[in-house]
Amino acid sequence: MKVLMVCLGNICRSPVAEGILRSISDKRNLGIEVESAGTSSFHIGHKHDQRSMANAISHGVDISKGRSRQFEVSDFDDFDRIYAMDSHNYDDIMQLARDVEDESKVKLILNEVNPGENNSVPDPYYGNDGFENVFTLLNEACEKIASEI
Ligand code: 4NP
Repeated sequence: MKVLMVCLGNICRSPVAEGILRSISDKRNLGIEVESAGTSSFHIGHKHDQRSMANAISHGVDISKGRSRQFEVSDFDDFDRIYAMDSHNYDDIMQLARDVEDESKVKLILNEVNPGENNSVPDPYYGNDGFENVFTLLNEACEKIASEI
């Protein structure tokens, strides 16, 4: 099973989702392969956001080695599931889908916890206090994903 986590910049939210799911998979030997990407080109090659890294490591999740990359159409071929962090990311990924098979791989991550509610993980980039909330939401969603794989 290969899972791709996607947000806008690939520096705040999707790297945390990647780190959490990988850490759960490693601990439980689930064999899930996880990566992350951004819909934008804003931060290609950059380290993840310092505030996101600091919050994640405070929960034992190390995302210090990752670098931002942009989502590309070939990701539809390389991944079984593509989780968007918010509804804008979801729409942007769906725009790039080539067929219904591509479309069927794309899901809003918080629908794992509250199916059909179409909730978004709030973007913490412009504030300083959203990172703990992001971690809590993504931890719950990743636990659900891991329990169903
Ligand atoms: P992310 O957060 O999508 O969770 O990585 C953002 C990162 C950068 C920007 C916006 C959101 N930006 O505008 O540069």
